Amino acid sequence: MHFHNIKEKILIVDFGSQVTKLIARRVRDLGVYSEIITPEDLKKYENFNLTKGIILSGGPSTVTKVKYQTIPKKIFKKKIPILGICYGLQLIAKLFGGKIKSSKKRREFGRAIIYKKKKSLLTQNFFKPETAVWMSHEDAVVKLPNSFQAIASTKNSRLTIIENSKQKVYGVQFHPEVTHTENGRQIFKNFLFEICKIKFKWSVVSQKNRLINEIKKTVTNNKVICALSGGVDSSVVALLINKAIKKNLTCIMVDTGLMRKNEFKHTYKVFKNKYKLNVKLINASEIFFKKLRSVSNPEKKRKIIGSLFIKIFEKEAKKIKNVKFLAQGTLYPDIIESKSSTGSKTSKIKSHHNVGGLPKKMNLQLIEPLKEFFKDEVRILGNSLGLVKSISNRHPFPGPGLGIRILGNITARKIKILQEADHIYIKELNENNLYDKIWQAYAALLPIKTVGVMGDSRTYEYTCLLRAVVSEDGMTADYFSFPKGFLDKISNKIVNNVKGINRVVYDISSKPPSTIELE
Ligand code: XMP
Repeated sequence: MHFHNIKEKILIVDFGSQVTKLIARRVRDLGVYSEIITPEDLKKYENFNLTKGIILSGGPSTVTKVKYQTIPKKIFKKKIPILGICYGLQLIAKLFGGKIKSSKKRREFGRAIIYKKKKSLLTQNFFKPETAVWMSHEDAVVKLPNSFQAIASTKNSRLTIIENSKQKVYGVQFHPEVTHTENGRQIFKNFLFEICKIKFKWSVVSQKNRLINEIKKTVTNNKVICALSGGVDSSVVALLINKAIKKNLTCIMVDTGLMRKNEFKHTYKVFKNKYKLNVKLINASEIFFKKLRSVSNPEKKRKIIGSLFIKIFEKEAKKIKNVKFLAQGTLYPDIIESKSSTGSKTSKIKSHHNVGGLPKKMNLQLIEPLKEFFKDEVRILGNSLGLVKSISNRHPFPGPGLGIRILGNITARKIKILQEADHIYIKELNENNLYDKIWQAYAALLPIKTVGVMGDSRTYEYTCLLRAVVSEDGMTADYFSFPKGFLDKISNKIVNNVKGINRVVYDISSKPPSTIELE
């Protein structure tokens, strides 16, 4: 990555917390450029000229053991302000000679009320008459290091915010990056602008020309292919590359037959006619249906869809001569996840399908222009490239599509039924201004038939499940609370208009313990 037009930045040292990405989000939301690095990266880091502040994340390590994750002490001599969050605070306390204990009495999980003890630059405008913060810790600082002061406390932990204002080193035991901490944004605002004194404003849009120039330089006169699905990421990649190299880009759209009603055709038309891109539409639905006919195991379905997709994409790509590059919509969170600081891979819950793995076989070089960005930033970039709202605001959609939203075996009839129900649901969400309030919504077809009555006849049909969740990044999610009457209306519309469904249910589970998709 080249950051030649970045003038100031914040380094976020990731000790393996589940929410480190959110720290980067908060910092970037305030218009400040940040990078997430591992403690090992920090040890090797040499040029701190642009670094105006360092944030140490939380993590599973504990300084109460002999071996723990740490940073070189000399970092504190660089006069760069430092903010430690949770484990970050404990590490600071330890390195400055404080005492940390693991104790049942002091541990806190979830909401806690924080009380002000002393004025600090870090907490300007932060405290309200009653301020709730979000905690997740077993260890706590029990003895303040010499040069530090206690700024705030909670019922269980006396040293919830600490500071060494002379050296500009700060620590907070709670997580200001999660939305459950009221006013957490103010902590970041104070750290960035009052303590680090950041002036440089960074925005996604300001990166657009740099990205386009970099693509031009890398690709020169060579050919690029990309798999276009009509999701935000692949659409923005296609538009960016097209801006940079025009004729030498070919987009391949593989229609698996497992997409939403009319969506694929709409995307094809938009890219072909509006943006004048070189797009090849491959209708492969028959072969997908054939291979999936009697498969009901979720993992088997995912594997079949994923590998068939790659096979078809490869075959089409080979028809284009002299291709050197494959463009992919890899995002920043994907990069962070693949280089976790603890080295521990989160256990595989589902095998995700995307086009990764292609270049190894096909001998193509990868271009991943979105790898510095979060999903919301990609949407902003898309808007600035003139991407139509219907695509730039589109909810995430899984690679295996409706294949994992029809539980049990898949038939052409079931796909048709689900497409109709889903179409009614999504249309109503749009018409009632609910679509943009929801992170992801979809309809699924359950493999159970129940008895119903329509007119004078008994029916025996499928059940449709509706899902709608709010989320920050898909890692955790809560179900969406619809305004009164909305679900009644949808249920009615679906049962009355979609032959094959006689019952509608709404999924009210959160992630965890459930997942967003059903398979
Ligand atoms: P889960 O069901 O794991 O989903 O809570 C989290 C997010 O990931 C999406 N998802 C996928 N995306 N290929 C994708 O590109 C996949 O195979 C896949 N499976 C799940 C899901 O829609 C949700 O946004």
